[in-house]
Amino acid sequence: MLNIAVFGSGRGSNFRAILAAIESGSIPGARIVCVISNNSSAGILQIARDHSLPAYHLSQAQCASEEAFVERLLGVLDSHQANLIALAGYMKLLPQQLIARFHRRVVNIHPALLPKFGGKGMYGHHVHEAVLAAGETASGATVHLVDEAYDRGAILLQRKVPVLPGDSVEDLAARVLEVEHELFPEVIRRIASGELLLPAPAVLTHS
Ligand code: GRF
Repeated sequence: MLNIAVFGSGRGSNFRAILAAIESGSIPGARIVCVISNNSSAGILQIARDHSLPAYHLSQAQCASEEAFVERLLGVLDSHQANLIALAGYMKLLPQQLIARFHRRVVNIHPALLPKFGGKGMYGHHVHEAVLAAGETASGATVHLVDEAYDRGAILLQRKVPVLPGDSVEDLAARVLEVEHELFPEVIRRIASGELLLPAPAVLTHS
């Protein structure tokens, strides 16, 4: 069983799309085991609560050190036997130790066609502004593995959308978001079905 922990900082529309796909039966073998946010007022936590899913507000600011934060996170993840972390609009870098523990088991969605328009500072409207400023004729969404650098892990799946003449940042963002909502559930479906093979975490329980 794919036990997914979803991390997010904002409204949670990608999480909602994943949840809808699971609840409709289109992703057999996968379930959401918990949602974690660094932001106590994030919509994503409310969506989780509305669906009676464990929702946690956890941030480094609540902890004395990064080690203590990692301990708290691993405690929650292990208590729910999470074996995949899905970053759905999570605005923080995951601590190194967590990425190491979930090696090749952390996926992220990015609102552009990586490797273009990724990296530090490339989030939210900044991404779409950069795409429009560069005069691109296409943009899209990418789901990729997360490693220690921003937006640089192996690409798992991408979907393109056109950039249309006269597009505003909002127009482009909305068009990209629509394909994000198809792409993220599709990647999770492929991971759950074994079409996309990710190795198991190095260590299953933390000491
Ligand atoms: C999405 O555009 C995603 O690509 C980016 O953050 C946004 C999150 O939106 N990483 P939502 O919270 O899923 O609605």
